[in-house]
Amino acid sequence: MFAAALLLCICIWLVIVLLKSGRPKNFPPGPPAVPVLGNLLNLNLENPLKDFERLRKSYGNVYSLFLGRKPVVFINGFHAIKEALVTKAADFSGRPRDIFVVDVTQGKGLVLADYGPFWKEHRRFALMTLRNFGLGKNTMEDRIHGEIQHIIKTLDNNIGKSMSPQVMFHNAASNIICQVLFGTRYEYDDKFIKEVVRCFMENSKIANGPWSVVYDSYPIVRKLPLPFKKAFKNFEICKNLTSNLVNEHKKTRVPGDPRDFLDCYLDELDKRGSDAPPFSEERLIFMTLDLHFAGTDTTSNTLLTGFLYLTTYPNIQERCQQEIDQVLQGKDLVSFDDRHNMPYMQAVVHEVQRVANTAPLSVFHCTSKDTELMGYSIPKGTMIVPNLTSVLNEEGQWKFPHDFNPENFLSDQGEFVKPEAFMPFSTGPRMCLGEGLARMELFLIMVTLLKKFKFLWPEDAGEPDYTPEFGVTLTPKPYRMKIKHREMQ
Ligand code: HEM
Ligand SMILES: *[C@@H]1O[C@H](CO)[C@@H](O)[C@H](O)[C@H]1NC(C)=O
Ligand SMILES: *[C@@H]1O[C@H](CO)[C@@H](O)[C@H](O)[C@H]1NC(C)=O
Repeated sequence: MFAAALLLCICIWLVIVLLKSGRPKNFPPGPPAVPVLGNLLNLNLENPLKDFERLRKSYGNVYSLFLGRKPVVFINGFHAIKEALVTKAADFSGRPRDIFVVDVTQGKGLVLADYGPFWKEHRRFALMTLRNFGLGKNTMEDRIHGEIQHIIKTLDNNIGKSMSPQVMFHNAASNIICQVLFGTRYEYDDKFIKEVVRCFMENSKIANGPWSVVYDSYPIVRKLPLPFKKAFKNFEICKNLTSNLVNEHKKTRVPGDPRDFLDCYLDELDKRGSDAPPFSEERLIFMTLDLHFAGTDTTSNTLLTGFLYLTTYPNIQERCQQEIDQVLQGKDLVSFDDRHNMPYMQAVVHEVQRVANTAPLSVFHCTSKDTELMGYSIPKGTMIVPNLTSVLNEEGQWKFPHDFNPENFLSDQGEFVKPEAFMPFSTGPRMCLGEGLARMELFLIMVTLLKKFKFLWPEDAGEPDYTPEFGVTLTPKPYRMKIKHREMQ
C-alpha cells in the first residue's frame, strides 16, 4: 500500500518535471509558467489585448510566454523589431512549424513557407509576375480603375442614403486580386467567390479563437473531433475549387501568352520542364489561395478604416478634395504617378494605414538558428511575434502618435515624408509582397471616390467608435456613411 502510494508520488513528480516549462538560460523574461498550461492562465483567450499591455509594462520590449510547452517571444518597439527583422534578417525570417494555421494550409503556401529555397524562388517569381503584370506599367492601374467603376455604381445607387461600405470594399479588394490571379472578376453572388469567402471567414474566426490556441499548445488533442477540424475541411474545399480553375486554364491557355498569374505559373512550369521543383501545380494552388487571402481582408479593412476617418474628419476630407481638384484639373482618371504632386493626399493614405494597423502582430516569424536579440539568447525554432502596433504608435517616432493627423507624414514645408517607423507592411525580407499593389489600390480608390463623392457621418449615428474589432487583421466596428455627390467646381 505504502509502496504504491510512493510510486504514484514519484510518477506525478516525474510528469511535472518532464512537463515543466522552464525558460532556457538568458531567455527573454516573462511571467512564471505552470506545468502543462504554460502561461495560458495569464491570458484571456477571447481578447488578450489587455493582458499583453500589462506584460509589456512588467517585462519590457522583449518578453516571452509559454503556450503550453511552446515558447513565444514578443518583440515591441522600433529598435528591437528593426534589429530582429532587418539587421538579423537571416536569423529571424523563418515561419513557425507545427502550429494550427500552418497545419491547415499544410505549410505549402507562400505566406507561411519557412525561410529556404521554396520560399525564396516563389517570392521572387510572384514579385516579378505582379510587376510584369503592370506594377509600373498601366495595365494594373487599368484593372483597378475597372473595379472602381463598380464601386462608383454602388455609391451612385445610394446617393442621399446611408450605407455600410463593408461588402462593397471587401468585394472590390477580392475582385482586384482575382483579376490578377484568374483574369476575371466575380459578382458577389457568384458561387465560387461566395464559397471561398465563406471558408476564409470561418477559418479566420477559428484561427482567432481559443480552439487554435488549444491546438497549438497540445499536440495530443489534434486528432480529436474538436471545432478546429472544420478549418481543415474548409481549406480542402478551397483547394478543390482552385484546382478546377487551374484545370480550366490549362485547357484555354496559349503558352507564352499569359492572361493572368495562373498562366504565368503554367508557363514557368513548361520552361522548367523536369527541373520544375520547387515549382509544381500543387504549389500553384496553395500560392494562389495565399495571395487571394493575403490581399483581400487587409486591403478592404484598411479602406474601411480610411473612410471611417474621412467621414468623421470633414476638414481633412475637404483638404484632400481641394488638392485633388487642383492637381487633376479636368482630368478624368487619376494615375498612380499623380501621387507625386499630392503630398497631402499621400500623407492621408499613409496616416490611414498607420491608424488602421491592419496586421497588428504581422505574421508570426520563427528563428532559423540560435541567435541573440537586445542581449537575450533565443534558440533556433522559437516563435517570434513582431508587434507592429507598438511601432505604428510609438512615442518618439511620431509627431502625434495617438491621434489621426496627416501631419505625421508632412514636413513643415508641407512636403510628404515617410518616417522609418511606418511599417504596416512589416519590414525586412519577409515584408508584405503585395505592398506595391496595395498602395496603388488604396491611393487610386481613395482619390477617385473623394473626387466624385462627399462622405458624411449620419446625423442619427451617434458618436463614432474608432476601437477596432480584435483579430488577425483589425477591422473597424460596422458603421454606415451617408453619400452625396460633390458639387463640382
Ligand atoms: C493594406 C494592405 C496590406 C497590408 C497591411 C499587408 C500586411 C502584411 C504584413 C504585415 C505581412 C507580414 C510580413 C512579415 O511576415 O513580416 C504581409 C505578408 C504578405 N502579404 Fe501583405 N498586406 C497587404 C496587402 C497585400 C496584398 C494586396 C497582397 C497580394 C498581392 C499581399 C500579399 C502578401 C504575401 C504573399 C505575404 C507573405 C510574404 C512572405 O512571407 O514572404 N498583401 N502582408
Ligand atoms: C503591442 O503594442 C501595443 C502598443 O504598445 C500594446 O498595446 C499591445 O499590448 C502590444 N501587444 C503585444 C502582443 O505585446
Ligand atoms: C476534393 O477533391 C478530392 C479529389 O478530387 C476528393 O477526393 C475530395 O472529396 C474533395 N473534397 C471536398 C471537400 O470537396
